[in-house]
Amino acid sequence: MLNGKHIVLGITGGIAAYKSVVLLRLLVKNGAEVQVVMTPNACEFVRPLTFSTLSGKPVITQFFSANSGEWHSHVDLGIWADLFVIAPATASTIGKMANGIADNMLVTTYLSAKEDVMIAPAMDLDMWRHPSTQRNIDCLKKDGVIVIQPDAGELASGLSGKGRMAEPEIILREIKEYFRRKETLKGIKALVTAGPTYEKLDPVRFIGNYSSGKMGFEIADELHRRGAEVTLISGPVSVKPYSDEINLIGVESAREMYREALKCFPDADLAVFAAAVADYAPEKISELKIKRENEEELEIKLVRNPDIAAELGKRKTSRQITVGFALETHNEKENALKKLKSKNLDWIVLNSLQDPEAGFMKETNKVTIWNKENSKFPFEAKSKREVASDIIDVISQSLEKSGSIVG
Ligand code: CTP
Repeated sequence: MLNGKHIVLGITGGIAAYKSVVLLRLLVKNGAEVQVVMTPNACEFVRPLTFSTLSGKPVITQFFSANSGEWHSHVDLGIWADLFVIAPATASTIGKMANGIADNMLVTTYLSAKEDVMIAPAMDLDMWRHPSTQRNIDCLKKDGVIVIQPDAGELASGLSGKGRMAEPEIILREIKEYFRRKETLKGIKALVTAGPTYEKLDPVRFIGNYSSGKMGFEIADELHRRGAEVTLISGPVSVKPYSDEINLIGVESAREMYREALKCFPDADLAVFAAAVADYAPEKISELKIKRENEEELEIKLVRNPDIAAELGKRKTSRQITVGFALETHNEKENALKKLKSKNLDWIVLNSLQDPEAGFMKETNKVTIWNKENSKFPFEAKSKREVASDIIDVISQSLEKSGSIVG
């Protein structure tokens, strides 16, 4: 299952470091190639020799080797690794990761990591529930770190509660699940639209909207994480895709977005329309800045933009799946289902502006998803990353049915 996978195993200074010996053994037994990186404190709990013997590689503990003077490149490690697992992750390391304090090889490697990062926290119950730790954990989750929840039970302090590192078998299961998910959309070509569109009025002004693009970018990231080949067509935003492998096409207006989407669509197995496309654009773009005249009013005539989702819906073949979004303020269900039908979508994701946790420029979203058969999938308010994962879990059913992926 883990054959050929490159894993960097980071070990920090907690008593649970002894369990990492078992974890390393399990990883190697399952076919992974493991490079261990330890913090200086971790070396006080278990000798690096134990880990180098089991991994068949010298353990990295410092920026350079004391004997040979050889520099250990954290950047190269990031390129080599398929996954970076930090187990145990102490409160101190979690705090340094959340705040970018790179004072040892392990945290420096984290800051250079191109691969996904998974942590298995281990600490005393008071440390685990301290607001500072919880804040740092939330921050890491937002940064995309996968957190394996600690267990509740007897702790090294003699106290009992939550904080004990998950058992090595559980961590191994999470690692296997991570790689399984990563393969689920392999071979799928996905097109995602995201962000707002800017409709130009003159050289200095445009008509736009509040979309941050976050939801669409999270969807593109999650599709890529599961192995899909992703093209992301985005209006002007400040967010970035997490991987250079996502083919990002930047556009400004709805018409430009439409042109790019038309080019990509024939090749796509899946298209997700997450962009907040302006329905209208000024009929004329003034070449010169529009000057204030003496009149009290200024009239601008707007003309209809193409409806990208609807136009591509007309061209859709039986193997292609399309997903739209509906952001509504009233008659949510009715309006969403109308859009599902009129744009020939397979799925529609509704976020209601009546929900305080949903909408533009928010970190969270709360969605309800419908399919063509009128089946409803409601979800709780979650981070946009988690929402993206839920959406893709649900729509993967269609990709299985259409034969694009084998379930
Ligand atoms: N959409 C699109 N092109 C447009 C307008 C919308 O591709 N010109 C897509 C959006 O990306 C979204 C879905 O259609 O997936 C619904 O967008 P929304 O703005 O809610 O719907 P409209 O059809 O524009 O309806 P209205 O603005 O009247 O609610």
